[in-house]
Amino acid sequence: MLGTDRLWDESAWAIAGIAMTDNTKKTPETLRSARWFAPDDLRSFGHRSRAMQMGYAPEEWRGRPVIAIVNTWSDAQPCHMHFRSRVDDVKRGVLMAGGFPMELPALSLSESLLKPTTMLYRNLLAMDVEELLRGHPVDGAVLMGGCDKTTPALLLAATSMNLPAIYLPAGPMLRGNWKGKTLGSGSDAWKYWDERRAGRISEKDWVDVEAGIARSYGTCMTMGTASTMTAIAESIGMSLPGASSIPAADAGHIRMASACGRRIVEMVWDDLTPQKIQTRKAFENAITVAMAMGCSTNAIIHLIAQARRAGQDIGLDDFEKASRKVPVIANVRPSGDEYLMEDFYYAGGLPGLMSRIRQHLHLDCMTVSGRTLGENIARAEVHNDDVIRTVENPIYAEGALAVLKGNLAPDGCVIKPSACEPRFLRHTGTALVFDDYPSMKKAIDDPDLDVTADHVLILRNAGPQGGPGMPEWGMLPIPTKLVKQGIRDMVRLSDARMSGTSYGACILHVSPESYIGGPLALVKNGDRITLDVAARSINLDVGEAELARRRAEWKQPEPRFERGYGWMFTRHIRQANEGCDFDFLETSFGAPAGEPSIY
Ligand code: FES
Repeated sequence: MLGTDRLWDESAWAIAGIAMTDNTKKTPETLRSARWFAPDDLRSFGHRSRAMQMGYAPEEWRGRPVIAIVNTWSDAQPCHMHFRSRVDDVKRGVLMAGGFPMELPALSLSESLLKPTTMLYRNLLAMDVEELLRGHPVDGAVLMGGCDKTTPALLLAATSMNLPAIYLPAGPMLRGNWKGKTLGSGSDAWKYWDERRAGRISEKDWVDVEAGIARSYGTCMTMGTASTMTAIAESIGMSLPGASSIPAADAGHIRMASACGRRIVEMVWDDLTPQKIQTRKAFENAITVAMAMGCSTNAIIHLIAQARRAGQDIGLDDFEKASRKVPVIANVRPSGDEYLMEDFYYAGGLPGLMSRIRQHLHLDCMTVSGRTLGENIARAEVHNDDVIRTVENPIYAEGALAVLKGNLAPDGCVIKPSACEPRFLRHTGTALVFDDYPSMKKAIDDPDLDVTADHVLILRNAGPQGGPGMPEWGMLPIPTKLVKQGIRDMVRLSDARMSGTSYGACILHVSPESYIGGPLALVKNGDRITLDVAARSINLDVGEAELARRRAEWKQPEPRFERGYGWMFTRHIRQANEGCDFDFLETSFGAPAGEPSIY
């Protein structure tokens, strides 16, 4: 049919007429916003008169679903630059479907600019959005995010509020370019920084890489945390089919934004809430997809937090199980060696990938489209078998992540075997320990540092409380003297996270963390550490008597904060294996907050 012959199958967004049939359909009187606007009393008079103050006639909101458009745009957020205008496309869709749009700005959490780490603020954004939704007269929400922590934060909020919600991913930026070479976010920054330290590229080259690595608005275009988390949002059923793969600068992204606006209005009438979508099976689908994508290690923390909010019992063992059976088939850097998210989109995107692992998915899970996951991917195709591989020809035979346990990490830690040199998958090495980032940074450039390529570099006090906020320090730099010898990977061990764009034999999220006295706090220079990924083990080769002696001598480092948000953070943050949520935000903490009183 003329006008529908597109590269990308958008037919799943043509939602008119699709409706749930479980007799939960809302009426204008039962809309949540009617509590604010409908009563004949003094308070509602105030709400109506103030809406008219903004220039809206009563017929523009009366009896219509009010749709919050939660916008994480800011001048300090390069990945969401386009949200300033994209929000208008969402509004267009909302109006077209008979809703009333209400834009609500929220914290923007720029991964690149916000310090010390956005992870310190993920839960603050989640609280911000949950309370924005709770306190305002809204019936449903379009959540605009994409840069790493914004996706889990927005989904945590929507999960706790449980209003109909649809997640609008910012989309990956265009491929980077330098002298005709493709540049990938993060991954090529680390790579060319090592080349610069080794004296192999000039200052001019370095500046040119700087100018060419981020060419458009949108999120990092490697399979970093942003691409991982937006794919998870889609596979869990919270985004429109195919939405997460569309490049930010593609006109299809604008059409998708408008479709989000149209669809959320129908979701409100159908009362299609996150609780009906985010079942245990939906989380299992997300884990399966994450493994096949070659996902960021950060996925584990965010998904566990989200599942716990949804009341689903998901833990490290679920990732471990999926990792044993689902191969990495997305040939996208850093697990893959060549392609980026733009290539992934042209190759068929996430629906294409899911069609290849269909046998591992629960196809009957409901999604925001009003259709099941199986229906969403029924027409999906793959257009390039090298970018999206078959399960018979994967880029890594097992899933992207492996969970290790042992006397160094009784509650677990994580490695991304698909992104490290295979010789390190089984390794014994001598510990070289740093207690903080500044001392590590200083030592790493010391030409006389006593280190070999077989050492295990350790950074501690970098976990949820110790960092604080578990910064992405886990890809410790290779000592400069080894870089000059051509060494590009070593075993590194920490209670930190690492960027999803990072790579190497980095063992992360060691739990419990060293700052609170986890076993990592007891390691000394010269100790031997043994890693065996196939056996999923990580051990400190030191006797229990000696460890007990060290434990008795250990003293907790100074408190990180004595007032403010940081003070609250360090007292309430959970460990990595529990998702790093605040204890008081977890669903099981107490009775639900309930609707605000209006008097
Ligand atoms: Fe925003 Fe990477 S810095 S997604």
